[in-house]
Amino acid sequence: MSATLKQATGPQFTRILSFGAARGENAVPNDDLIGPIDSSDEWIRQRTGIITRARAVKETDAIDLATIAAAEAIEKSGVAASEVDLVIVATISNPKQSPSVSAIVADRVGSNPAAAYDVNAACAGYAYAIAQADALIRAGAARYALVIGTEKLSDVVDPADRSISFLLGDGAGAALIGPSETPGIAPAVWGSDGSKADAVGMNGTLTQFRDGEVPWPTLRQEGPTVFRWAVWEMAKVAREALEVAGIEAADLAAFIPHQANMRIIDEFAKQLKLPETTVIARDIETTGNTSAASIPLASHRLMVEHPELSGGLALQIGFGAGLVFAAQVVVLP
Ligand SMILES: CC(C)(COP(=O)(O)OP(=O)(O)OC[C@H]1O[C@@H](n2cnc3c(N)ncnc32)[C@H](O)[C@@H]1OP(=O)(O)O)[C@@H](O)C(=O)NCCC(=O)NCCS
Repeated sequence: MSATLKQATGPQFTRILSFGAARGENAVPNDDLIGPIDSSDEWIRQRTGIITRARAVKETDAIDLATIAAAEAIEKSGVAASEVDLVIVATISNPKQSPSVSAIVADRVGSNPAAAYDVNAACAGYAYAIAQADALIRAGAARYALVIGTEKLSDVVDPADRSISFLLGDGAGAALIGPSETPGIAPAVWGSDGSKADAVGMNGTLTQFRDGEVPWPTLRQEGPTVFRWAVWEMAKVAREALEVAGIEAADLAAFIPHQANMRIIDEFAKQLKLPETTVIARDIETTGNTSAASIPLASHRLMVEHPELSGGLALQIGFGAGLVFAAQVVVLP
C-alpha cells in the first residue's frame, strides 16, 4: 500500500487587513486630451463623469506603482513583509510579457521568496485575485497574501482614439489579506463571455507590430456594446453577489464598482436600489479608469475619506476585457 499524502488546511475565514495606493504623478484635465478626438470638456464630464485622470511620467511603470501601493498596504497591516507568502498582481500593462510584475514586487517590498504570479483578467483582475487569495489561504496554501491591481494604461492608448483614450489613467491599489476569526470575504460570483472578446482589448499583436503590419498596439473598445453589457448583465451579477453573501443591498456600508463610467455607477446604484446610507465610490472623477487598479484605488480613497466605514460591508464588482467579471462582498478593514 502506498503512503498517504499529507494535506494542508488553513483558517476558516479571511479578511482584508489594509489597503495601499499609488496614482500616476500628473493630473491630466480633459482639455489636454480633446484635440485629437474632436471632443470637449463638457462631453467627457457629462458622458463619463471624469474631470481629470491620473497619469504617470515616462520613467514610472506599473511595477513602480505596484511597489508603492504594496509597501503601504504592508505597513498599515502590521504584518511583517517577510510573513507575506503569496503575491498576486492583476494587470494588463506589465511592461514586459515576462518576467511577472508580482515576483519583482515581492522582492522589492521584502517578501522574497513568496509565491508570486500575475493575473490577466483586465478590469475584473483585482476581484479575481481577491477570490484566489481568499481560497488559497483557506486551503492552507498561503497565510498572508498581497493582492495588487496595477496599470500604466497611458502607454497603451492612442491619443486619437475617441472610443477610449480619454477614459484611462495610471495607478495601483493593494490589499493585504490574512486569516480572520469571522467571515471577511464572501464567495465570488465570477465568469466570462469570450464570445464578446472583440468588444474591448488591444487592437494588434506584438508580432504584427514587429512586422510593420500595425502601429503600436493600443486599447480600443466598442463603447456602447460594453456599456449595455455592463449595465444589464453586471447589475444581475452584483445582485447575485449579495445573494451568495446572504445580505441585502440595505446592509451595504459601501459600493465599490469598477470605475469605468460614472453613468454605469449611477445605473448600478439605481438597479440595486442602494439606500442613501450606502457610500458609493466615485474615484473615477479624478483618477479615470485604471482597469485592475480601479477597485483597490477607490477602496483606499473611500477609507481615507470615510474612516467610519471600517468594519462595514462593501460590494465590489469588476468587469472588462474578455469579457470577464467578478463580484464579491467584503468587510472593509
Ligand atoms: C465610451 C463611452 C464613454 C461613450 O459614451 P456613449 O454615451 O456610449 O457614446 P456613443 O458612442 O453612443 O456616442 C454618442 C455620441 O457622442 C459622440 N462621441 C463618441 N465618442 C465621443 C468623444 N470621445 N467625444 C465627443 N463625442 C463623442 C458620438 O459620435 C455620438 O454622436 P451622435 O449622437 O452625433 O452620433 C461609453 O460607451 C462607455 O463608457 N462605455 C463603457 C466603458 C466600459 O465600461 N469599459 C469597460 C472596460 S474598461
